[in-house]
Amino acid sequence: MNSNPSQNNRVLSGMRPTGKLHLGHLHGVLHNWLELQHTHECFFFVADWHALTTDYDNTQIISQSVTDMAIDWLAAGVSPSAATMFVQSHVPEHAELHLLLSMITPLSWLERVPTYKDQQEKLKEKDLATYGFLGYPLLQSADILVYKAGNVPVGEDQVAHVELTREVARRFNFLYGKEPGFEEKAKLAIGKMGKKNAKLYREHRKRYQEQGDLESLDVARALLESQQNISIGDKERLFGYLEGGGKIVLPEPQALLTKASKMPGLDGQKMSKSYHNTISLREDAEVVAKKVRTMPTDPARVRRTDPGEPEKCPVWQFHEIYSSDEVKTWVQEGCRNAGIGCIDCKQPVIDAIENELKPIRKRAQEYAQDESTVHSIIKEGCEKARDVARDTLDDVKQAIGLSYW
Ligand code: TRP
Ligand code: SF4
Repeated sequence: MNSNPSQNNRVLSGMRPTGKLHLGHLHGVLHNWLELQHTHECFFFVADWHALTTDYDNTQIISQSVTDMAIDWLAAGVSPSAATMFVQSHVPEHAELHLLLSMITPLSWLERVPTYKDQQEKLKEKDLATYGFLGYPLLQSADILVYKAGNVPVGEDQVAHVELTREVARRFNFLYGKEPGFEEKAKLAIGKMGKKNAKLYREHRKRYQEQGDLESLDVARALLESQQNISIGDKERLFGYLEGGGKIVLPEPQALLTKASKMPGLDGQKMSKSYHNTISLREDAEVVAKKVRTMPTDPARVRRTDPGEPEKCPVWQFHEIYSSDEVKTWVQEGCRNAGIGCIDCKQPVIDAIENELKPIRKRAQEYAQDESTVHSIIKEGCEKARDVARDTLDDVKQAIGLSYW
């Protein structure tokens, strides 16, 4: 449950700079972002500091990877007028909040994050017994909380990090949400809503607190939501007062689970750079055709006359993503009765990928030839992000008691 619905509409998500993106990113993450940018206030960022938590010994490539990633986002359709795109390290407030949160985060919370042990196991050749690596889920929490984001689109592997973020936010609010004179300030704020609304708020708060009436909680929240005449600070107080706690300084985010990408790699395993089975978003048409033509097929089809089974063939998985029912039936029948050859079968896939990539490739080329435009888009995004992040840090410091002079 999100404790502050006024923040529900903001979305934050980030990607580590891995360089050029591929079809797996497009179908797994980017399509989701493209939808969200029209329905939510979106902040998308390149998590360059996160790259350092594992690749601290290979930092020279980061800057080009950041640019390449930004180009691919834009080429895929992330729109700078609909979403704020920025780079983490250009918004130092992420680091400042990370530091402040580190003071209140028990070590055991970080040690039990599943990715901590998993990744250390996976990347055995690397020394990941570092302070930064242990703390990286908390850095992610800071990434999210510094925008008071209500929603975080992530894959399954990242849900535990959003969960940690919720716990950290709760702990922060518990420790610092009780400003001096909270109750008096909340009561004053109720008065500012006008007589009728104040009465409604009091009634519903009472019904929620005394009888646990969740409907009353919803009604009171909606009422607060619609208030135009009270300050954001007062609103946050009243959201907190409603639930019986203190002021909610850092709202708890929700994970928006991104469906796992259905995009398989050229070999049928998950598409991933480390498996060398990708088609990049900027791949040349001829290279796409060649990669698909050399894809393995059902090994039973040694000769053109041997029947096959689509379920045993990675090309079929591509048809499932790209092809119409009509084409799919043609594949199923033609494969099983050897009516078509594998080269025939692959052609509609080649055409469909080309259709999808053609406009993306073109836009990417344009941006790649004009990196200064990309950099100014990012720069502008960084400024917008910083304004929001600064406001949060003001609230956070105020709550902790660090805003003197
Ligand atoms: N840790 C994420 C990953 O490896 C990237 C990331 C960093 C992120 N900060 C974030 C994702 C904040 C969502 C929200 O994929
Ligand atoms: Fe795979 Fe198509 Fe060949 Fe069947 S006909 S084995 S589905 S490529």
